[in-house]
Amino acid sequence: MALALLVTTLAVLSASHSLAAAAPNALSARQDTANCTSASFTIPSWYINEFKSSETNASFTVQNRASGSSTSLICNPATSSAGTAWLCGSTDPSLQVSIQIKDAKAGVEIHQSWSCSDRSPGHPLAFQASGKSTIPLSCTGEACKSSNPIDLVKGSLSAPLELNPSYASGPLGHDKTGCGAISTKPKWTVGTVIYVNETGDGQNAVATHSIQFQVLNQANGNVAGCLNYFDVPENEDPAVVMNCAGGTDFTRRDRYSIRTQTVFYPRSWTLTINETWFCDDVDAARPASYTGAAKTKLPLKCTSSNGRTACQLDTFDIDGSLDEKTDLVPYSIEDPLPTPDGCTISSVVNPSWTLSNVEITKPPASSAGSGSGSVAFNMKLNTQANLFDFPVFVNNRDVVFGSAADADAWYPCSFGTGEQPLAPRNCSLRYVARTNTLAVDAEWACTDLDGDNPIVFSGVATTTLPELQCVRTAAGLERCSSKEGVSWTAEVADVKWRTVHTPVLV
Ligand SMILES: *[C@@H]1O[C@H](CO)[C@@H](O)[C@H](O)[C@H]1NC(C)=O
Ligand SMILES: *[C@@H]1O[C@H](CO)[C@@H](O)[C@H](O)[C@H]1NC(C)=O
Ligand SMILES: *[C@@H]1O[C@H](CO)[C@@H](O)[C@H](O)[C@H]1NC(C)=O
Ligand SMILES: *[C@@H]1O[C@H](CO)[C@@H](O)[C@H](O)[C@H]1NC(C)=O
Ligand SMILES: *[C@@H]1O[C@H](CO)[C@@H](O)[C@H](O)[C@H]1NC(C)=O
Repeated sequence: MALALLVTTLAVLSASHSLAAAAPNALSARQDTANCTSASFTIPSWYINEFKSSETNASFTVQNRASGSSTSLICNPATSSAGTAWLCGSTDPSLQVSIQIKDAKAGVEIHQSWSCSDRSPGHPLAFQASGKSTIPLSCTGEACKSSNPIDLVKGSLSAPLELNPSYASGPLGHDKTGCGAISTKPKWTVGTVIYVNETGDGQNAVATHSIQFQVLNQANGNVAGCLNYFDVPENEDPAVVMNCAGGTDFTRRDRYSIRTQTVFYPRSWTLTINETWFCDDVDAARPASYTGAAKTKLPLKCTSSNGRTACQLDTFDIDGSLDEKTDLVPYSIEDPLPTPDGCTISSVVNPSWTLSNVEITKPPASSAGSGSGSVAFNMKLNTQANLFDFPVFVNNRDVVFGSAADADAWYPCSFGTGEQPLAPRNCSLRYVARTNTLAVDAEWACTDLDGDNPIVFSGVATTTLPELQCVRTAAGLERCSSKEGVSWTAEVADVKWRTVHTPVLV
């Protein structure tokens, strides 16, 4: 598995932040949505409803998709300054909106702060975001309104951390130019067809039939691969049904996936295609799903020898018909599905490590002097969707024990052979034998929400180790280990973070 490494020259974009610095603002009384926190991190954005403008004013409502708050605004041309932007007044001081109307388009800029109490009711988490978008207008004289059913303004977070969350990629080709237009009269190209009829020899070789081909949808360029093995009873032309692979999202953040079903009739060489796909190339505010079908006889060319008939066809275009077009929720194609907390959210709201397999090797307590030993353990960031879902082996082999031990000494972490972990990126450890406490001062990086701008977290986790079982080694040292399979959680106190602007090497 290729691990992502952060290059070491990190250009720090912003000053360090921490939860303590992000004081909850006064607006916590506002009602949150149930998933305010995760929505704030993953889709900080606003819907603009009913945008209308005249020569002298504009009006619309702004709905924060994370907090759920909705605010009506009226904008007027700026009277004082020479700028051309109109300022929009609202009763909500946490919301600043300005617009600029030109050439049947309205540029909108939004800044807002809000807070979410869904994770820890006593300690609302403060968010701040801003975003810009352009609204296409349809006008009659001076009176204009948005030509979209609803408009979307995607935002970037500036607090509690700097983040420009990435959206889902959506089913293949959904925004390909012409996707919607071609979909009204669907066309497929069937390629690389191989149909094999092996009659067998009644002894070693068995009778078998197989069909394989690819189906390219000309609207979105999606290619589905179809394959099946089947029997053909005498005097029958059975329907060989194939659910073809392709068009499936493996990141599992997409709401929609392309479905392709084909049926092949081996005696008549009839092929039917039935597919569902998605387009929003004309306007992301008007996505649609399409279901279409086609039926044709494949002009196969066959050659036979030794009880094996192989039939082929390079490429073949098939005209189909559109059975159904369904309008989808505006902007829903690239809207990521809600996922469990990943690295970033866990690191802000509940930073902790899962520790296991502790092994301390030290000079026996009975020995008079002191000596060096080792501290080793496994650690893993505690999160529900861990990209690196295996613990990292951490150790230091030069820990001083006994009378010369310094209870305040930190030892740098080494990681298991070949491990170049993202979480933690680096750490130092301190073990106090007298109290059996382990402290880990770690730095770790998260790239799950914004791959272009990794966030580096840091903080110290201190934990009392569970009871250790000790044995004497051949070298006369004492080796103490935690029970196999036992793990425990060490919370990180005073987590700090900063967003860095650096390429991530994979
Ligand atoms: C939040 O919850 C609502 C309703 O349960 C859901 O429709 C929405 O997709 C969720 N959003 C996120 C980002 O989790
Ligand atoms: C906005 O402009 C329209 C057309 O000029 C006018 O009818 C309306 O009263 C104005 N609204 C406000 C709130 O100024
Ligand atoms: C397969 O080949 C055998 C031998 O040529 C033929 O009898 C049989 O009908 C073929 N089956 C199909 C489905 O074409
Ligand atoms: C296509 O598949 C869908 C879903 O399986 C089904 O409802 C529909 O009837 C099929 N259409 C054709 C023409 O086979
Ligand atoms: C991690 O490495 C950086 C740079 O090498 C260093 O400044 C920092 O103190 C280290 N952090 C820990 C927890 O060891």
